[in-house]
Amino acid sequence: MSAMLDEHPRYRSMMSADLELVVALELKNYEFPWTRGNFSDSLAAGYLCWIVECAGEFVGYSVVATGAGEAHLLNLSIAPTWQRRGLGRAMLDFVTERLRELQIDKIYLEVRLSNAIGRRLYARAGFRELGTRRGYYPAAQGREDALVMELPLRALPS
Ligand SMILES: CC(C)(COP(=O)(O)OP(=O)(O)OC[C@H]1O[C@@H](n2cnc3c(N)ncnc32)[C@H](O)[C@@H]1OP(=O)(O)O)[C@@H](O)C(=O)NCCC(=O)NCCS
Repeated sequence: MSAMLDEHPRYRSMMSADLELVVALELKNYEFPWTRGNFSDSLAAGYLCWIVECAGEFVGYSVVATGAGEAHLLNLSIAPTWQRRGLGRAMLDFVTERLRELQIDKIYLEVRLSNAIGRRLYARAGFRELGTRRGYYPAAQGREDALVMELPLRALPS
């Protein structure tokens, strides 16, 4: 278990005014980061983009595309100094709850095979491994495979 948080995380929708902080964190957290354009396109497309704050400080974000009763978790990122306090899991639970309220049936995501922390986070939250997408991500040498994971949100009729 991660160390518990003293402050309760607060969630709100991402706005264009947040993009400077979002992009700065994206650059810290990923070797192959999204661009500012990727985030502004996500906002323009109506993707579900959220910010999480702790003690008034911006600490992370998530981006989810939805359609046809399914959701695709495209990005989830917590600031390095705030990691390992349960915020990644808390944000994932927040996203999952909002998607349930929207009557979404399933969440899909891709995660790098080498991202042991991300894979652990998703597995502990109940995501199961569906398979791999070959060469999905750019990598320092060539390409890296993605693991595709799925979380059903609604019980199937028996
Ligand atoms: C993945 C990420 C969102 C997790 O955020 P976080 O706030 O640290 O996550 P939590 O504190 O909720 O911890 C989730 C699990 O990961 C584990 N974990 C987190 N950081 C870890 C680390 N550096 N080493 C080992 N385990 C770690 C925690 O122990 C916890 O597992 P547990 O419940 O079995 O204890 C964060 O590491 C991050 O932003 N990474 C860079 C971006 C990224 O890879 N995003 C996912 C892409 S698909």
